[in-house]
Amino acid sequence: MILTEAADCLSDYISASPEETLRIGKKLAANLRPGSVVALRGGLGAGKTQLAKGIARGLGIRDEVTSPTYTIVSEYEGEIPLYHIDAYRLRGEDDFSAMGGEELIYGGGISIIEWSERIPGSIPEDAVVVEIEITGPRERKITISARGLPEIQ
Ligand SMILES: Nc1ncnc2c1ncn2[C@@H]1O[C@H](COP(=O)(O)OP(=O)(O)O)[C@@H](O)[C@H]1O
Ligand SMILES: [Mg+2]
Repeated sequence: MILTEAADCLSDYISASPEETLRIGKKLAANLRPGSVVALRGGLGAGKTQLAKGIARGLGIRDEVTSPTYTIVSEYEGEIPLYHIDAYRLRGEDDFSAMGGEELIYGGGISIIEWSERIPGSIPEDAVVVEIEITGPRERKITISARGLPEIQ
């Protein structure tokens, strides 16, 4: 990964396949700690859920990770609990609070939030922000910035 020396730690990837995005998620997982929040940004079909699957795998979770679009939050048991949240159907920060969002993300587990751009005010300052852009049928540009991580390996 490429690092910057500034407070913001940045990594840029070009993923050429869903499998590669899975691997990037696995790598990212190695840098997460209890309490980490991963805020995913990017439109429909960008690969947010695909990346979340990689993170879950990297955390040693064996259950199949599916999109939480309808359930809004899915919980997976691992060494550290994983909360996979989809903000797509939330109307905003108030909705997030009403569903107990803060209790989840400040509860000591690891949280992944899809469509985090819908609830910008609820995303912690030190979240790992991952932006996924569709740059081709199977190509994605993945930009990871993390203020709370000293470095990403
Ligand atoms: N490089 C890639 N990385 C991730 N997904 C990809 C890639 N290339 C193609 N895809 C496809 O894009 C779709 C991404 O779906 P998903 O992860 O559910 O997106 P999102 O959660 O952002 O809506 C999947 O069908 C996947 O196979
Ligand atoms: Mg999704």
